[in-house]
Amino acid sequence: MLGVAGGIAAYKVAIVASGLVQRGVDVRVAMTPSALQFVGPATFGGLTNSQPILSSTQVDADGTVPHIEAARDAGIYCIAPATAGVLAQLASGAADDPVALLATTVRCPVLICPAMNDAMWQKDSVQQAAAIVRGRGVEVLGPVEGHLAEGYDAIGRMVEPAAILERICAVLGVA
Ligand SMILES: Cc1cc2nc3c(=O)[nH]c(=O)nc-3n(C[C@H](O)[C@H](O)[C@H](O)COP(=O)(O)O)c2cc1C
Repeated sequence: MLGVAGGIAAYKVAIVASGLVQRGVDVRVAMTPSALQFVGPATFGGLTNSQPILSSTQVDADGTVPHIEAARDAGIYCIAPATAGVLAQLASGAADDPVALLATTVRCPVLICPAMNDAMWQKDSVQQAAAIVRGRGVEVLGPVEGHLAEGYDAIGRMVEPAAILERICAVLGVA
């Protein structure tokens, strides 16, 4: 499962989805409402041959409830980019959108890839949220220093898609 939140790096997660599909991995994507401002659901739908989960109350055409059914069989749940908002939800246990909701239903390892402006990442509330989720066994990959959309280099850049792909494949045991 891939959870996509509303950050500028959302477009890079299409590369992760495509790479997984090319390795024979079944991918189901969930998107927050804000993520839809950055990437269209048709991109992930087309890449994964599966309709993204766009609402916490979505029921699939076959009558199944994806945040339960799809979550049950997941080998990993990767949230990228993990926004400040999603991090706060994970830390608090809130489940206000499908990405956060899935974090409460999956039984598999959870990997999050934060990405945000450096001021946001360095904020106490964000650091505390990251520490809380880490303490619960969530793997936090990045962010790294590098070029930010704001036009300067600083901490906050999402790790590169290749690194996310590599980590997911390692957890899944996929070559
Ligand atoms: C151009 C633009 C880029 C943004 N990039 C990020 C980002 O990288 N990380 C982040 O936490 N928020 C970012 N935001 C703010 C989020 O989109 C906003 O907080 C939104 O409510 C996040 O919703 P979500 O966490 O439910 O997906 C950005 C906003 C804009 C307008």
